Amino acid sequence: MKKTSVNSTALYIHYPWCLKKCPYCDFNSHEGGKENDQEAFLQALLEDFFGQGLKEREFASIFIGGGTPSLFPPKLISRLLSNVKTNVDTEITIEVNPGSSEHFSFAELRNAGINRVSIGAQSFDDATLKTIGRIHTGGEIIKCYQQARSSRIKNINLDLMWGMPGQTASQAIQDLKTAVKLKPDHISWYQLTIEPNTIFASSKPPLPDEDTQCSIETGGSRMLKKSGYERYEVSAFSREGKACRHNQNYWKFGDYFGVGPGAHGKLTKFEESGVRIFRTNKLKRPASYIKNPTHTFIKEVSAAESVPEFLMNALRLEDGVDWRAFEKRTGLLFEDIQGEWKKLSDRGLVEPGRCKTTELGFRYLDSILQAFV
Ligand SMILES: C[S@@+](CC[C@H](N)C(=O)[O-])C[C@H]1O[C@@H](n2cnc3c(N)ncnc32)[C@H](O)[C@@H]1O
Ligand code: SF4
Repeated sequence: MKKTSVNSTALYIHYPWCLKKCPYCDFNSHEGGKENDQEAFLQALLEDFFGQGLKEREFASIFIGGGTPSLFPPKLISRLLSNVKTNVDTEITIEVNPGSSEHFSFAELRNAGINRVSIGAQSFDDATLKTIGRIHTGGEIIKCYQQARSSRIKNINLDLMWGMPGQTASQAIQDLKTAVKLKPDHISWYQLTIEPNTIFASSKPPLPDEDTQCSIETGGSRMLKKSGYERYEVSAFSREGKACRHNQNYWKFGDYFGVGPGAHGKLTKFEESGVRIFRTNKLKRPASYIKNPTHTFIKEVSAAESVPEFLMNALRLEDGVDWRAFEKRTGLLFEDIQGEWKKLSDRGLVEPGRCKTTELGFRYLDSILQAFV
């Protein structure tokens, strides 16, 4: 088996179009697709990829996200991936919208190199799906899932949301029960957030009250645990050995490259003077990006900024990380934040000896982070 090289890292590829914009979504996604020149988009992605000098780099994980990348013709995905160096262990994920199934087949995606699919289910309840503006039914999600399985896709995630308009605790738990029956390898279970500049932000739908949210959260995570799904991050639950490698790299504050409109990257340079962290970003509007795919905005993250950034990610992990990871990734010492950490530990929010929250602190992540802003 080929070993992962020391240079190996993560690659995010952004596909910006969807068949219909969902009213809660603030991702860089735009209605359209067919009318766009997919070949020109592929050329732009390749120019961007080569322009960042990534030809010789071997990737441990690749994530094709969106938007709805399942609208990108599989033949073009195959051409894109054939330029990316991987090894037998590379996790290669694509996000699939169950309402886009006429645009691809799982066999084609597998032949293109995809070995993990993340299906945007959100709910199995047709009335809820309609309220949140989805283009598919619960039955279509199940069909999509079964097609993936019968095409021998071995690693499948289902994205579900909870706390949706008018949702009761039993409806939310019923969604999880339906998901678990399908036996996915991974479940991402996100609380619906009302993001600024979305349709839901301008006309806010009635959301479940705090008590209902609390019983959904407690009941749902307990039920997932009982069903063999280990919670390893605030919203991520997996069967043994099926944690998402790509997302774990983000939460552990690892480096990654971003290709595509609005895609972010994070790079660390180890210099004699210390660790320097850079954030990169691409042009956001698809048309501007296609015209100028190599244009990159670069911003250095200061040492003060790197502390909340690191903690915001690492503390989402149920097991946290050890302080060596903090020191390696930020170039700072634990002593630099020891005073604040002790205060939080005295309040029972964090573990004294590890970069990790307590069970109580896991529910109050925002107040922990406030201490470092
Ligand atoms: C980048 S989206 C793309 C997935 C794909 N386009 C789809 O919707 O089927 C990834 C996931 O983020 C979650 N998500 C998107 N907007 C959200 C919001 N406002 N609050 C909570 N979760 C959200 C959804 O579960 C979604 O499947
Ligand atoms: S399909 Fe996904 S990316 Fe597209 S608008 Fe809906 S949630 Fe956003």
